[in-house]
Amino acid sequence: MAGTGSKQITAGQGNGLPRHIAIIMDGNGRWAQKRGLPRTAGHAAGAETFRRIASYCRDLGVEYLTVYAFSTENWKRSAEEVSAIMGLLKKYLEEAIRKMRRENVRIRVLGDLTPLSPELRELIARVEAIDETLETHTQANLCVNYGGRDEIVHAVRAWQADPCHGELTEEELSRYLYTAGMPDPDLVIRPSGEERISNFLLWQSAYAEFYFTDTLWPDFTEKDMDAAIAAYRSRDRRYGGVKK
Ligand code: IPE
Ligand code: IPE
Ligand code: MG
Repeated sequence: MAGTGSKQITAGQGNGLPRHIAIIMDGNGRWAQKRGLPRTAGHAAGAETFRRIASYCRDLGVEYLTVYAFSTENWKRSAEEVSAIMGLLKKYLEEAIRKMRRENVRIRVLGDLTPLSPELRELIARVEAIDETLETHTQANLCVNYGGRDEIVHAVRAWQADPCHGELTEEELSRYLYTAGMPDPDLVIRPSGEERISNFLLWQSAYAEFYFTDTLWPDFTEKDMDAAIAAYRSRDRRYGGVKK
């Protein structure tokens, strides 16, 4: 579970299952538009898909699931859309406080949380306090006001400000990322047909396998996850070496 830390050059699980899956939950707006619904309805449907896929990953034995919920760039959207997304996050956190002991999944929120409302930050603190008490092998990371570049700048600043910092190496800097102590993602999934990284896990996905599908996130099912994992299993991860 959590705590391998530092630079992860080889990863995955012995059984071919990714240890860490990351998802760019994209396509909510288009899903809603196709149905003549407001974009916010797409975000609500996407939040349901996240609940379902997170349970599925836990049942499969995936140790870490990291999802991109709101980027540092998503503030460009209308106030109405931003506030709907923050409302869904609030609902999810309140539900987590009630259910996470039973579900036995640790929840972390990764990103620069300073611009979030005090109410949301308080809920995040309560969820993370429950985290400490769970004995589990499953962790869900929600990336909120997350940007890969922002994370690296934040890490460098934190390293600089730490009077106990060590010499600056890759391992050392990793200790100051939001993902400190977690293994790098083995598999990054992006639904919705877009094939770009959009500032997600820039440092951590150095050797991740990528899987793209045209399915819009609210339509993403357990079968799509199976297909992504099957694709991952067929990949030959060489990490810059030569196939034996
Ligand atoms: C992803 O869906 C959710 C967020 C970025 C918050 P989008 O809202 O980007 O959906 P599309 O890409 O417009 O369809
Ligand atoms: C990435 O999706 C961010 C999230 C899914 C939270 P976007 O929809 O914001 O990315 P672009 O604009 O298509 O690159
Ligand atoms: Mg999008």
